[in-house]
Order: sequence, then C-alpha cells, then structure tokens
Amino acid sequence: MTEHTLQARLSLTIKIAEEAGQMIINAREQQGFSQRLKKDNELVTDVDVAVDKLISQRLEEHFPGEARLSEELAPESALHVEAPQLWVVDPIDGTVNFAQGLRHVAVSIGWMEDGVAKVGVVHAPFLGETFSAAEGCGSFCNGHPIKPSDADVLGSTLVGTGFPYRKEARKRLLKRLDAVLTHCQDIRRNGAAALDICDVACGRLDAYYETVSPWDFVAGWVIAREAGASVGHLYQVPSSVPVDLYPDNLLVTAPGVHDAMRQLLLEADQT
Ligand code: IPD
Ligand code: CA
Ligand code: CA
Repeated sequence: MTEHTLQARLSLTIKIAEEAGQMIINAREQQGFSQRLKKDNELVTDVDVAVDKLISQRLEEHFPGEARLSEELAPESALHVEAPQLWVVDPIDGTVNFAQGLRHVAVSIGWMEDGVAKVGVVHAPFLGETFSAAEGCGSFCNGHPIKPSDADVLGSTLVGTGFPYRKEARKRLLKRLDAVLTHCQDIRRNGAAALDICDVACGRLDAYYETVSPWDFVAGWVIAREAGASVGHLYQVPSSVPVDLYPDNLLVTAPGVHDAMRQLLLEADQT
C-alpha cells in the first residue's frame, strides 16, 4: 500500500471534497433530484447517495483498503471503532438546506489513525469555502490560516447548535436553549454541524454544542482543534470509543469561554 504523508492525504482529500462539491452544485442547477425520508424522519435525496458513492470510489482509488464510515453507504460506526485507518464521510451535511435551496451545505471528510482524528476537510460549495487541517499543521480556509475568537465572557458569546430530527429528543434540549438565550449573546441554527464547528474554528461563532453522528463532526473537530479552539464533550466519553469518534454532547468553543459554556450547559441539564 502507498504510504501518504498527512499533507499528501490532505491535498487529495481537498480535491475529492471539491469534486463532490461540484456534483452538489450541478445537482442543484439541474433540480432533478428526488427526496425521501429515512428512519421515518430524516430527509435524504438521491444526491446524498450519489455523492457518497463518488467520494467512496475516489477514496478507494487513492487509499485502497482503508475503512470507511459514511452516512449513506456505511453508517455502522461500531464496525469501525478499531480500524487502524478510518475515513469518516458526510457527503452532504445540511441536507435540508440543500433541498430547500439554502447555501449552508458542506461535504465533510475526516481521516483517523489509531483512533485519533488527523485530517479534516469541510468544503462548502455554495459558499466557496474550503476549511482544511492536518495534525500539527494548523487550520486554513481557502488556504488562509484561521483561528477562533477571543471571546471571554458568556454575554458576548454567539452560540451555534442544532437539534435532532426526532421531535421527542428535542424537548430535553429546551433547558439548554433557555440557559443559552438567557446568558449568552444569542443563538444560531444554521443547519450544518460541520460548518458550525468550522465557524467556531475561524471565529464567526464563539461556541457550538450538539449531539450528532460521527460523520457530522470528525473533520470539523480536527479543523477546530488545529485552529486553537477548545474541543471536548460535556460528559465523560465511554472508554470503549475513541474520544475523536464519540459524537454525543460535543462542545467546541473559543478557548476563553469553554469552562463557562460547559458549566452553563451542565447546570441547565440539572434543572
Ligand atoms: C444534520 C446537520 C444539522 C444537525 C443534525 C445533522 P445532515 O446533518 O448537521 O445541522 O443539527 O444533527 O444530522 O442530516 O444534514 O447530514
Ligand atoms: Ca450531517
Ligand atoms: Ca448528511
């Protein structure tokens, strides 16, 4: 098998994500895609599946034999927890935005080695932005270095979050929402977790919290960490799962507000 440096992996991943992004743009221009609900309430279009296939094919060409976890083709993360090398792919993050003609849509591709996320690319085709990072090399947007904000008090913290598709699972999040709306500057729900995390990485948002799936966050997680943001979980991660793959109760913030945000959300859970 060819050995790739992290930089070589990153360059190839950017190319693959941009090719996938072009496919998403073409699909919107042609407007011919069909939609359905999976798992009863999650929207999926045939473009999600086609883009996942394209990415999977390209990854197999360049990195043959490496395991892949992807939302539409291979969503069983339990099968891959111990894979020495693992690609984690969301072909379209922000499917509802895509279907509605909104622009907050991204291709998210992360790569992990021995349970540690090392390469991340989040490409937003309608915004013309590609966020990228490799372990130890910093984070970039369209090739320019990025860093988080210097927010240091909750009162000036702009917070991004999202909500699960299942309506019953939303109710218990209302206490967090109440706390954030009461104590922080304001809240944004932009509809693409990968971009929310990148927006913290580059200082447009000051904090982000949510429970998602691995493909929603692994790439953004590398980008945020490499940019100097604080990445963590609100609660202890089970020892059976790599921290960088565990998607529950994520908290990504500018370094100056991590502790205060964590305390605010934990206290909200206890009320
Ligand atoms: C969704 C988006 C959304 C988040 C949901 C995710 P999808 O991903 O990232 O912002 O709140 O939890 O499922 O379904 O558009 O790939
Ligand atoms: Ca997603
Ligand atoms: Ca998706």
